[in-house]
Amino acid sequence: MNAQTLLAILDNGILTIMINRPEKLNALNKDVFSDLNKALDEIENNPEIKSVIITGAGSKAFVAGADISEFGGLNREEAMALAKKGQDTFARIENSSKPVVAAVNGFALGGGCELAMSCHFRVAAENAKFGQPEVNLGLIPGYGGTQRLVQLIGKGKAMELLMSAHMIDANEAKQLGLVNYVTTPETLLEHTRKILEIINSKAPLAVAGCIKSANAVFNETKDGYALEIEEFGNAFATEDMKEGIAAFLEKRKAVFTGK
Ligand code: COA
Repeated sequence: MNAQTLLAILDNGILTIMINRPEKLNALNKDVFSDLNKALDEIENNPEIKSVIITGAGSKAFVAGADISEFGGLNREEAMALAKKGQDTFARIENSSKPVVAAVNGFALGGGCELAMSCHFRVAAENAKFGQPEVNLGLIPGYGGTQRLVQLIGKGKAMELLMSAHMIDANEAKQLGLVNYVTTPETLLEHTRKILEIINSKAPLAVAGCIKSANAVFNETKDGYALEIEEFGNAFATEDMKEGIAAFLEKRKAVFTGK
């Protein structure tokens, strides 16, 4: 599944996608978006993929933003179309039924911070730096950053970061709840894999139900409580739920099949 701008490795159910433009600090250009969408098709359709890690190539950056060199000369309508494309791609990540985790290995700025925030949660290396520096360019975030930053760290701190372009380090990101763990750069992927190995051992349809229901908190068109009731009911119609209950009663480890 390797593409021009992405390296992808599937190992034991975990697909690691590495954004691979290290000479441009993995900036998101049109090709990266096109490749990311192809990867998202593959994630949806390939049953061997149970969960996903997104990270950046090289030691310096996760993703240092949208590719600024593609911004010159865009008119208002073209800029809106660019933002829509970015938002749609990141919404696909957020709404993926399979867990997607960002392993943030350096700068996660602008579109890079937005990409990380669209993942279900984040693990950061201690050299990670997060920020929305768009105001330095006379811009605002366009790939969901104004919304997800408020959702993840609260309005007051998000407003400050958005308006000041101030960058925060991994430890501050953890204090703010933007990342779940801070690791050394060397152990970042291994640490992230360990979390996903645990998640991959659970019932996949139940995991998908958790993602869908938790995402509904931030979707005004959905009643999250009603959706939770529906997903809870759906779980009762799965083989995995029968297996989970039987295994508990028989004091053995459940073997889930995703059915
Ligand atoms: N878009 C396009 N190219 C980018 C980029 C971006 N968002 N971020 C970095 N690059 C390119 C640089 O232009 C440079 O390319 P060059 O070697 O051909 O000149 C290369 O990546 C290395 O970056 P450089 O700036 O030399 O590294 P640095 O260590 O001095 O600084 C940053 C690192 C992240 C602080 C700096 O690159 C930066 O501020 N990037 C832009 C961040 C940003 O504003 N993102 C939001 C975009 S909306």
